Amino acid sequence: MTTLTAQFDVPIGVDSPRTSRKAVLAVLGVWGYVDEAWTDDLSVVVSELVTNAVQHGAGSVVIGVEANGPQVVLSVADGSAVVPRRREPDGRGGRGLLLVEALTRRWHVEEHEGGKRVRAELRLYPDGDGPGREDQ
Ligand SMILES: Nc1ncnc2c1ncn2[C@@H]1O[C@H](COP(=O)(O)OP(=O)(O)OP(=O)(O)O)[C@@H](O)[C@H]1O
Ligand SMILES: [Mg+2]
Repeated sequence: MTTLTAQFDVPIGVDSPRTSRKAVLAVLGVWGYVDEAWTDDLSVVVSELVTNAVQHGAGSVVIGVEANGPQVVLSVADGSAVVPRRREPDGRGGRGLLLVEALTRRWHVEEHEGGKRVRAELRLYPDGDGPGREDQ
């Protein structure tokens, strides 16, 4: 099965989460991943991981998307080697990674170019083998 990949830099600022959502949805939309409930969940995951990278991470932020039929992996890299950890939610936050955990199959952190990359395996795309199989 062909794996489709994309990687792009995120302009850092207050618009980073919105810009990232748009870019990820555009790329996956071109590849045929358009199911609304699935892309809604994906949007939350993109927002939380990019917000974390901008707020808690450092350096440049790079998004990766890998799609292989129904299996899609989103990654968000930043230049800080600090490993994100779930924490007890309180009045100031602690809910982002809880959401990521709830909306993905699994997520993990790997070392990446002196910083780290958070990789989230999204829920399986609902259309069986994934979109566009007739073309592949
Ligand atoms: N990219 C990152 N780099 C370094 N530390 C991170 C990163 N992402 C998360 N963390 C750490 O993990 C903790 C938990 O992240 P989480 O997103 O669950 O909560 P939050 O960002 O503090 O609050 P919320 O997302 O609810 O606004 C953060 O408080 C932070 O200490
Ligand atoms: Mg957060």
